[in-house]
Amino acid sequence: LAASAQGGALTAPAQAPAADPATLTVLYGSQTGNAKHVAADLAEAARARGLEVKLIDMADYKPTQLKSEKFITIVVSTYGEGEPPETAEKFYNFLGSKKAPKLDGVQVAVLGLGDSSYEFFCKTAVDFEERLSALGAKVAVERALLDVDYDDLAEAWIGGALDVFEPELKAASPAVSNVVPMPGMTPAPVVSPYSKKSPFEAEVSVVQKITGRDSTKDVRHVEISLEGSGLTYQAGDSLGVYFHNDPAEVDALLALLKLDGAAEITLGGETKPLRTALIEDLELTQSYPGFVEKYAEASKIEALSALVADKAELRAYLDARQIYDVLREHPAEITPQALADSLRKMQPRLYSIASSQAEVEDEVHLTVGVVTWDAFECGHFGGCSGHLSQRVAEGDGLRVFVESNDNFRLPADPDTPVIMVGPGTGIAPFRAFLQERDAQGAEGRNWLLFGNPHFTQDFLYQVELQSYLKSGLLTKLDVAFSRDQAEKVYVQDRLRENGAEVFRWLEEGAHLYICGDANRMAKDVQTTLIEVFKTHGGMDDVAAEAYLADLRDAKRFQRDVY
Ligand code: 2AM
Repeated sequence: LAASAQGGALTAPAQAPAADPATLTVLYGSQTGNAKHVAADLAEAARARGLEVKLIDMADYKPTQLKSEKFITIVVSTYGEGEPPETAEKFYNFLGSKKAPKLDGVQVAVLGLGDSSYEFFCKTAVDFEERLSALGAKVAVERALLDVDYDDLAEAWIGGALDVFEPELKAASPAVSNVVPMPGMTPAPVVSPYSKKSPFEAEVSVVQKITGRDSTKDVRHVEISLEGSGLTYQAGDSLGVYFHNDPAEVDALLALLKLDGAAEITLGGETKPLRTALIEDLELTQSYPGFVEKYAEASKIEALSALVADKAELRAYLDARQIYDVLREHPAEITPQALADSLRKMQPRLYSIASSQAEVEDEVHLTVGVVTWDAFECGHFGGCSGHLSQRVAEGDGLRVFVESNDNFRLPADPDTPVIMVGPGTGIAPFRAFLQERDAQGAEGRNWLLFGNPHFTQDFLYQVELQSYLKSGLLTKLDVAFSRDQAEKVYVQDRLRENGAEVFRWLEEGAHLYICGDANRMAKDVQTTLIEVFKTHGGMDDVAAEAYLADLRDAKRFQRDVY
């Protein structure tokens, strides 16, 4: 019966006490950590001004608290087709629902982060502001919608927003502050000297291809030494990796544009040779409309100006093209500085960590899928995966930082069973989970579902997984080699075949994880889970959806999808 979905194990923790009226509530919704860090910067700057601040992940926020809020700032990013981050979804939906309370007298400010390569740039932030306004809140600060290169603009916005909030909060504060710490408030993070802004110069110790020579895929197992950094991470965290562009590609580009690589340019207040900047600092792989707009203007190339005028066509044009391609197709006579100014700062790429420190100590392992394709008569490589697979030798340096992810964690209780769905490179965090559970001597059952095209070519970490199966650490390993038979077989088919057992494990308290492709796999797996709940839990659609939502609320259903 559907009623089984409301079992005690899924009830939410107790309600938090009401917020102090003179508190600035900083709510963030973050997928890869950027919004979380900007929110933390905002909270820190507000505290430095003597303001009371409550910094909280939207995932941990009880909407009933809204009634007692007076000042709210929202820092939120946007993903894919204009979607909110995973952790923001519930609060986002709540604000758009009939259950949302009136917010008359509440002052709000919104900062959005996004990536202008995507059509629905910062949509979630805009939606949040609209929803809050519709409920009666007053927009106290003009919203900022920032692109990937947001650092300086975010800092400036924070200053401006606090100039507005500070006098208001001080006027509203009682003489003696009686702020009660809120449960669910983010604890002070362990401060590492290394971060996105100041990464650690690590050393690569292993880069090994782990797909077969006849595979359609090129996946590399990468081991990096963190020795001397004091950096720590937990299973579920990601590693941020800075990379270099291909010097050969850069030289070809310089020749084509008839530019002198030694010419000095200024970048973020620093002077350096153009060639160095193109290799180390500027994005040349991932294309985005903003580049074409700036380059069209600087180069005065008419075909590009026409393209810029038609957003849909521009996106279609950029779909298979890197910045290299655009420049190759439309070489112009432009100055070194104009070229640099039309490009944005290279962003580090995040990889789900594939190891546990309990097992590998000061190493960190990654499972890197090499992004590569042929188009326009030449090969293409993804920026970071190209760097790691084509140009990094063992012993080379690599700038990295740890990005923690509290929304993808093993159960606190080692006896709790886990179901892990991780096809392709989605296996990475589950290798970390298994290492961790092994080192813990955890008694909880572990079930892994893995999929890839071919058994002989693409069974990532086969030897390790089979030895875990033998030792009993892995209770169950289900594989779906999609192209080894006439009909495609995917991880969700294995879930469906084992539906009764999936449901039983969940009823017994299992945590459920999905890692890997967001667009197709994760959606299809979720659809299958709903089917499983209907078939084996006797639920209707509404109850099955609620069952999954309750699992998510209880943090028993977590995703790391990209
Ligand atoms: P395919 O490429 O043969 O279609 C990892 O990429 C594995 O996920 C591959 O076996 C791939 O199969 C499979 N895959 C592709 N689309 C999927 C989907 N919608 N759901 C689950 N697995 C999928």
